[in-house]
Amino acid sequence: MKIVKKAIIPAAGLGTRFLPATKAMPKEMLPIVDRPTIEYIVEEAILSGIEDIIIVTGKGKRAIEDHFDRNFELEQHLKEKGKLDLLEKVNKSSNVNIHYIRQKEPKGLGHAIWCARKFIGNEPFAVLLGDDIVQANVPCTKQLIAQYEQTGSSIIGVQHVSYEETERYGIIDPINNKDRVYRVRKFIEKPKLGSAPSNLAIMGRYVLTPEIFTFLECQEAGAGGEIQLTDAIQKLNEIQQVYAYNFDGKRFDVGEKLGFILTTIEFALHNEELASDVRKMLQRFQNNSSKSTLLEGIH
Ligand code: G1P
Repeated sequence: MKIVKKAIIPAAGLGTRFLPATKAMPKEMLPIVDRPTIEYIVEEAILSGIEDIIIVTGKGKRAIEDHFDRNFELEQHLKEKGKLDLLEKVNKSSNVNIHYIRQKEPKGLGHAIWCARKFIGNEPFAVLLGDDIVQANVPCTKQLIAQYEQTGSSIIGVQHVSYEETERYGIIDPINNKDRVYRVRKFIEKPKLGSAPSNLAIMGRYVLTPEIFTFLECQEAGAGGEIQLTDAIQKLNEIQQVYAYNFDGKRFDVGEKLGFILTTIEFALHNEELASDVRKMLQRFQNNSSKSTLLEGIH
């Protein structure tokens, strides 16, 4: 069995949910505390044993390439000022093999993955979507790779969502399960509310066999008029069993505004430098919310 060493991170989306912030800046560069969201995703891939990452970019995404490149002027400046801790943080993101390819038209997630087919070749690979940050003792992608290594089959990360949320995700129709692993009858992209066969939703983490490209090649537009990865996975499932895995870990939805704000607060509460002030602010606000502002009397 071939081992999983490559990953695709699609980052070509237009970021319309965050306009106007994303008019001139990629949504993947929006920071959670002091790191752009895409850095958390790249870190998960590296901690999962991935050696080569291909980021599928689009128009206006240059800042992502600059971020993972070295910036000698900045490094020199930090060295001269003795800011070695910052220097380490800045360099951390430039020590991995990251490759880029452009999706020339925004035709959907399935099409973005297909754009990376030559880089992947005939190997199994991981996909990590940037709208989901997962915090787990064992990185989410590593959990999926471990499952892949037992069966040699594609495996998709899922978690439970509420009834109301099912229409926002790819949903599985499970046949049966053994612990966290599900055999799946069908993968359905964004079913209408009330028609979802379960509340197990695809959470932006996949390990796929290269046969998926055969189906992506001729995949027609589906939900939202876009070429959907979920639809191609369903076709793959008809010739090769594709499993779902209810991974262990907390998933943060940074792809929409409220989720983004809540993630920022939670990450700040776990940040040594900020935790105590943020906690104080939140408490004060909760105790006297009509009169306080969040910033009052912290320092
Ligand atoms: C994509 C996938 C969907 C998945 C979701 C997870 O949808 O198509 O199956 O459940 O990511 O975040 P998007 O949110 O890009 O519309």
